[in-house]
Amino acid sequence: MPLSRLYLPLLGVLFSCYSCTITNSDTALANPPSLKTAYQGNFHIGAALNRPQIYEADSVAAALIRKEFNSITAENMMKWMHIHPGVDSFQFEAADKFVTLGEENDMFIVGHTLVWHSQLAPWVQEITDRDSMLQHLQNHVSKIVGRYKDSVRGWDVVNEALNEDGSLRSSLFLELIGDEYLLKAFEWAAAADPAAELYYNDYSLCNPAKREGAIALVKRLQANGVKIDGIGMQGHWGLDSPSLEEIENSILAYSALGVKVMITELDINVIPNPWDLEGADVNQNFEGSPFMDPYPAGLPDSVQIQLAQRYEDIFKLFLKHEDKIARVTFWGVNDGQSWKNDWPIKGRTNYPLLFDRAFQPKKAYHRVMGLKKLDE
Ligand code: G3I
Repeated sequence: MPLSRLYLPLLGVLFSCYSCTITNSDTALANPPSLKTAYQGNFHIGAALNRPQIYEADSVAAALIRKEFNSITAENMMKWMHIHPGVDSFQFEAADKFVTLGEENDMFIVGHTLVWHSQLAPWVQEITDRDSMLQHLQNHVSKIVGRYKDSVRGWDVVNEALNEDGSLRSSLFLELIGDEYLLKAFEWAAAADPAAELYYNDYSLCNPAKREGAIALVKRLQANGVKIDGIGMQGHWGLDSPSLEEIENSILAYSALGVKVMITELDINVIPNPWDLEGADVNQNFEGSPFMDPYPAGLPDSVQIQLAQRYEDIFKLFLKHEDKIARVTFWGVNDGQSWKNDWPIKGRTNYPLLFDRAFQPKKAYHRVMGLKKLDE
């Protein structure tokens, strides 16, 4: 038998292996491993963007945002004081830029937030009668939702309207309008963009008393025929609390209302929390205190491992309830940007997110990604 008869099939096999390698690596190049690709089919993975990130001031940050996330929320630029600073003046520039960025990258764009007692423009504080508050609130909600109709796909319509005991927080809106302001806000948002998802968003929603308050709020809207699509559980959590059990109980309780559950504003605090110190006052006394700011030069490995474990545990739970959870949004992109460096004490060094100050993935990132590898 001529040698070529033996070699040709062998060459064919070698060539097909080679072309198979090329195809696989092409796919890998087009779809490099990332949070959004790993969790595609489970839930959206989002990040809150600050102003420089919206304007893509840093090319490394911009590339990372495009690679890792398929949903974005404006950390600050859609808040009342920024977007509606004067009675008749709206500042849409940064919000427009944010929405364009999301559209160009086919991201699920979240509007944050329409009705919040905090970060209001000063002129709102001067409103003193019910009719005028109703009229200004309606104008605010309708103008903003209307402008981004069909672009912003979900709105945090009302943010943080509850006290820790589940009662309604006293605010200018509650004081002047009464609790009807909640119904009205959702109705106006639905009228301005019937296709947008509408959410109630708050922190400490795993605490049983506040959870009951949130459930009552959603039921009240539903009983009045007002559209509400989801609950945003802000995930400003710690290494040990809330417990996985309370997180799970809450996901189940909210989902039982027939609304989507979103984990919004996720970050895990790793430095001392002054609220845990009995009798401690959060004030200037703690600024510059090494006890309160223990890791200015870097996170020790032991804590890095605890953080990674906590992220793995909570993502395992999110995956268990993927049929109820529509989105998990981190409150920031990397540690350097996080609000947790400045709250409740200014100028500390915290490490709450999946990317470090140099935008490198941390152990926690790899553990969150690892959960999906086991799945395949
Ligand atoms: O932009 C100014 C800057 O010019 C100035 O030099 C600096 C001085 O401190 O302040 C900068 O503004 C700060 C802004 O964040 C941007 O960093 C404000 O003081 C500060 O109050 C503001 O904090 C934001 C906070 O909401 C209040 O709006 C945080 O970034 C933002 O992460 C935080 O997000 C909230 C959610 O909207 C609702 N849930 C709780 C969450 C955490 O508080």
